Amino acid sequence: MDQNPDLKNKTERTAPTKVELNPATLLAPVPVVLLSCQGLPGEGCDQPNLITVAWTGTINSEPPMVSVSIRPSRYSHAQISQSREFVINLVDEKLLWATDFCGVKSGRDLDKFAACHLKAVKASQMAHAPAVAQSPLTLSCQVEQILPLGSHDLFLARVTAVEVSPGLLDHDNRLRIDKARLVAYAHGNYYALGKLLGFFGYSIARPSVLAKRMPQVKQEAKVKVIPERNRRPRKLGTGGSKSRSNDQ
Ligand SMILES: Cc1cc2nc3c(=O)[nH]c(=O)nc-3n(C[C@H](O)[C@H](O)[C@H](O)COP(=O)(O)O)c2cc1C
Repeated sequence: MDQNPDLKNKTERTAPTKVELNPATLLAPVPVVLLSCQGLPGEGCDQPNLITVAWTGTINSEPPMVSVSIRPSRYSHAQISQSREFVINLVDEKLLWATDFCGVKSGRDLDKFAACHLKAVKASQMAHAPAVAQSPLTLSCQVEQILPLGSHDLFLARVTAVEVSPGLLDHDNRLRIDKARLVAYAHGNYYALGKLLGFFGYSIARPSVLAKRMPQVKQEAKVKVIPERNRRPRKLGTGGSKSRSNDQ
């Protein structure tokens, strides 16, 4: 049967141009974080420890929850399973060397806090797991479930506290995480986060908002603004770039 000519053209235009790879964990970029933890007293692993984790993510908003995947062979796996606590320490450029080191050395063999000149401090809401003093932002996490997946066990945890360096708060106490110089991880490499390209909802933001939040990309953003159907006629009438940028 003959194909619809329109469909055929469309199919040809979108014909696959990619090469198929083996299925793998190629989600990228992902965060790379330093998890701090400590086992229970008298259980053989109650010294503060650090493990580098890239398989971590946000999994729920209310209550705030995160996940981390850890191989059962890791020393920290035993510690977190005992205490059911860990702290996620976000990694900035200054912490990157230590983060890589903590990802290739085990707490079974050495004190990673001491080796990396990192300071273990009391973490809010945690009875056992310390936080890393040098991290710009830490999340205290209480484990709720542990799911064996295969190579890794998935720890589902509730975020019970967030602590941030005062330098990352502006005059109105708003978090300026863009100032933290955080690091991302993609396919075995660490990257600096650099250029601001947009913000949540920028594709439909008003010109005045774009001008305020992204003055450096104002010109590019302007051409992408699509008037919404329910915008008032006054707004729909602001066609030219001059009137848009004056739309206060
Ligand atoms: C960039 C990077 C990411 C890593 N991500 C994970 C991870 O998500 N889960 C995991 O089990 N191990 C991960 N590792 C490996 C552990 O951090 C590493 O085995 C560490 O030495 C375990 O320390 P421990 O034995 O003290 O727990 C990662 C290592 C690096 C360098």
